[in-house]
Parts: sequence; structure tokens; C-alpha cells
Amino acid sequence: MAVGRIPDTILDDILNRVDIVELISGYIPLKRSGRNFKAPCPFHHEKTPSFMVSPERQIYHCFGCGVGGNAISFLVKYERLEFLEAVGLLAKKAGIILPERQKEDPQVASFISQLYKLNEISALFYKDVLNSTNGLSAKLYLERRGINDETIKLFQLGAAADRWDMLMNHLRTKKINLSLIEKAGLILPKEGGGYYDRFRNRIIFPICDIKSRVLGFGARVLDNTLPKYINSPETAVYVKGRHLYGLNFSKDSIRESDYVVIVEGYLDFIIPFQAGFKNIVASLGTALTVEQARLLKRYTNNVVMLYDADKAGEIATLRSLDIFIEEGMNVKVVSLPEGFDPDIFVRKNGLDSFKLKIQQAQGLFEYKLTVLKSRYSPEETEGKVKIASEMLSTINKFKNAVSKSEYIKRLAESLDVGEDALLQELKNTKEARPNSGGMPEIQAKALAINPTEKLLIKLMLEESGLIHRIKDDIEPADFQDSRTARIASILFDLVAQGKKIEPNLLASHIGEDDILRVICESTFMPDVSLEDKDRIVDDCIRRLKLKKVELQRQHLHEQIKSAQHLGDEEKLHSLLEEFHHLIKRGE
Ligand code: GTP
Ligand code: MN
Repeated sequence: MAVGRIPDTILDDILNRVDIVELISGYIPLKRSGRNFKAPCPFHHEKTPSFMVSPERQIYHCFGCGVGGNAISFLVKYERLEFLEAVGLLAKKAGIILPERQKEDPQVASFISQLYKLNEISALFYKDVLNSTNGLSAKLYLERRGINDETIKLFQLGAAADRWDMLMNHLRTKKINLSLIEKAGLILPKEGGGYYDRFRNRIIFPICDIKSRVLGFGARVLDNTLPKYINSPETAVYVKGRHLYGLNFSKDSIRESDYVVIVEGYLDFIIPFQAGFKNIVASLGTALTVEQARLLKRYTNNVVMLYDADKAGEIATLRSLDIFIEEGMNVKVVSLPEGFDPDIFVRKNGLDSFKLKIQQAQGLFEYKLTVLKSRYSPEETEGKVKIASEMLSTINKFKNAVSKSEYIKRLAESLDVGEDALLQELKNTKEARPNSGGMPEIQAKALAINPTEKLLIKLMLEESGLIHRIKDDIEPADFQDSRTARIASILFDLVAQGKKIEPNLLASHIGEDDILRVICESTFMPDVSLEDKDRIVDDCIRRLKLKKVELQRQHLHEQIKSAQHLGDEEKLHSLLEEFHHLIKRGE
């Protein structure tokens, strides 16, 4: 884990001052359950809550999907922050001032801001190219597509010249190092060494986040060659599926008009926007993600999807729209006539008829039903089954029971089948619910670790005093599971150094997810009463030792068999001796 340069003592300080229950309950409602708090896990779909938060240990853990950790890791996961961002946020809550030095550390926090800066410089460069003789053909192309100068300026459109190293040379004169430029995805390594510009002879569309920071670029050819578009690769600042093109320009209009139109392409966004239709964003041709839905939800609950005729009717597209329903948003769909996309439609038919089209948008339920009915024959049983199953998977996504039953009624009428049959099917759909929205559907499954080992870990995490005692009796290698062995070794080291042991502090120092998971899972094991503790520790130690002898015996047994088989008398003799020795010790 990127602990960065923040000293452990400061991390510990922060963690000691924030309350994980308070933090998490700011995001999801927690219910008390004995000494812990419980909730449905925010990181995977589930019906019965298996997400636990411990006020005493200051950690959380989900027995369903296995995520777990402390306040920092919760923020990282839930808010999708970088480790350092999460620490910064908590530090603020805790009233702790992080050492100034951290911010200026070029290796840590500022790597990100260097990328932003580099993208900004590159966007400016591409803009200058567009206005130079090198950009003449690009300028003409934009003109032909009906994009005016004001729009070019607003969206910082640019051009990459028909050369191999123009951007690279420009950035080199600014003393920016090549490795950073490569990490920004702007250049690519050549086979024989050296680099070349990723984008050449293309129109450049800077892709920004809602704060208008440049994250990366899309680049279109000026003719019909393929690929039509190339985009920046994912970088530390550009994660695909987390942003929507144009939202930085349209967010206020979206909030005002209380709905957003989602289109696919850069031009499908730019042309309507230029014409005055400003509550619009572009998904850039990829399937929508939960994060994008949540991003839009900050501004409106109402979404209109505007796709090309062929694309809109695709089952995969329809299915991806279920994301909005899961987020409790309203989705409508417009499909344009054959051969049109929003860009062409606005230019050919004008803004008013574009607005009219949008007003005529159909609800997802009706739209999907119409598409399915035209695809499968609803008169035949087989068709009914297919349509019902697709529709039910959408209906299933509604959280509201009234909506659900309303849609079931409508589906039953439309297919001329009984509501009961659909309700029965809905139940089946629920059980075999497909994984959607990027959230893993995982059945509760505890890690396959010997309970004795887990219990010992739990006890050691609770009481450092016990570690000394256990350490005298067994070694980390006596734990059969590599994870519990590793934890034991960490704990033994920590007490040897006289360090305090707390699961939530450990969680920020241990980067290995599987180890962290064992720590969290052990912590939430049922408690052991105080008076029983000593007896239980003794019992666990004894069992571990027995298990070890047992394994050694098995191993020797195998060896003896193989020595017998090979007729290796000498080896057999020494093995048998060892075997007797072991048995005597075990008694
Ligand atoms: P124009 O032909 O310029 O009108 O493009 P468009 O904006 O209408 O895009 P189109 O509908 O063809 O595609 C939608 C989006 O998918 C584009 O804006 C791109 O983000 C993406 N896309 C299209 N073609 C490619 C491609 O060849 N490669 C990649 N990576 N993305 C593409
Ligand atoms: Mn187009």
C-alpha cells in the first residue's frame, strides 16, 4: 500500500482521533448489533447485512465479500480516493495538520498534480498547433463539421500535427522528464529506444473532470482512416468510466433543467451544446458505469439516453441502463431514425425538432418492452419466456415494491400471462441475479483457515500480553496457513519492539489484502469470556502443536513408503528412527 511519506505516528494519531462508526454512518445507515454495528454491504449486493463495524476495534469487515480495513481504507474504497487523499480528509476531520513537507514531496502527492499540469500544458500546445499552419487541415475539418471558433475555444479543441515528436520536443524544452510524459500517456516508447507522440495528425479533444482539470485526450482522424478515435490510456488521473465528457460545462444546466441527456460521441455532445442545448454529456462510446450514474445523480435524477438507432435497441445497451434504476434514477430512451446521430440530427433538423424528440422519450420499461416485442414473437410461448426474463431482470432492479408490482401488472397484461407466474419467475430471477454494476455478488464465505489459528490471532490482537506468552511456546511457522503465520510473525516483531497493537493501526501498515482480511475476520469472531481466555490459549497452543506433529508424521510416513518402495535400506532406517522419536515426543 502506498503509505507515502506520512509517518506512521501521524497515521496512528489520525486513526485514534476519528470514530469509524461516525464516519461510516455518514455514508450508510448502521444498526447496532451487540457490540458491533451492521449494515448491508455498500461494496456488493446483498439482502441480509453482513457488513460489520466494530467501535472497539475501529475496523469494518464484510463477511459477504471479504472487504475490510480501517477508516482510511473505507474512504479509499467508498469515495474512490487515493490513499493520501483519504488521509488528508481524515486529518482535517481529526484536526491534525499534516506536515507541509508531504505536499511538496515530488514522489507522492504532487505526482498527480504534475500529471494535471502536464496535461494542461499539452492541451495548450495542441490549441496552438490548431491555430498554426500545422493545424490548417484540422481547422478546415472542424469548420466543415460546423464547429465555430467560440466552441473551439470553450472546449479547448486542438490539433496534433502530422509529425512524430512535436509534443515531445515541446515538453522537453520545458525540462519535463520523459518518464512523466510517458506516464501521462502522451508518448509511446519506440522499439529501438526513444519515444514518439501518441497523437499525430488528429483533432484533439481534451477530456476534463468536473473541476475542469484535463485528465486525458481523445483524438479523431481527419478522414475515414481507422481507428477513427484514439484516446489516452488510463493514467493515475484518467480512469475510464469515472467521468463524463462535457459535464464540467453542463452541470449547472443539468441541475437547472433537472434532467440530463446522455449521448455517445464528442460531436454528439458538442453540436447540440453549441446550438444551445446545454444539459448534455457524452459517455464516449463505452457502457455506462455505476460511478457515472452516481456522478450525474449529484445534479439530477432524470436521465434521457440518446443513442443511434441501432445502438439504442441493443440488449446490452438496454441492460446497462438498469444501472440507473438501481441508483433510483428515472431513465428514458430516445432512439433516432436510421442513419442519424445527435450531431447530424441537430444539424439537419434543427434544435426544436431535437427538443421535441427528447420530449417524446419513452420510459425504459416501455421502450425495452417495445424493442423486445419487435425482436421476439410475443404470441409464442418461447417469445414470451424470453421477453419476460429480460423484463424481469429490469423490474428486479427497482427498489420500490410498489413500482415493482405496478410493472409486473403491466408486463402480465402486455404478454397476456398471469401475474402469479411472473411473480414466481421474479423470485427465481432474484436468486440467480446477474452481476451488474461492477459490484461482485459473492456468497458469504469465510476464509478456509483452521479456526484454532484464527482464534489465536484474534486473542493476540485483543491482548498484547498474550502475545508474549504465545511467542514463548510457538513460532510463526507453527501456523499452517501462510497468512496467519505472517500475522503471527508481524505481531511477534511488534511486541518485541515494544509497540502497541491495534487492528485498525495495523491495517494501515499492512498492504497485503489477504492478510488484512484475516485480521478483520479474526477480529469479528465471537468473543471469548475473560476467565476462559487462559484455558483457551493453552488449548489452542496444544492443538497447533499436535497438528504440527501430525503433519510431520504424515510427511515421514510418505517418505518411509517411498524409501520402502525404492528399497533404500539406509534411508529407511534413519526415517524409522525419526518416526519413533516423533511419536514419543507426541505422547
Ligand atoms: P464522428 O464520426 O466524428 O461524428 O464521431 P462521433 O462523435 O459521432 O462518434 P461515434 O458515434 O462514431 O462513436 C462514439 C464514441 O465512441 C466516440 O466519440 C469515441 O469516443 C468512441 N469511438 C468511436 N470510434 C472509436 C475508435 O475507433 N476507437 C476508440 N477507442 N473509440 C472510438
Ligand atoms: Mn457522429
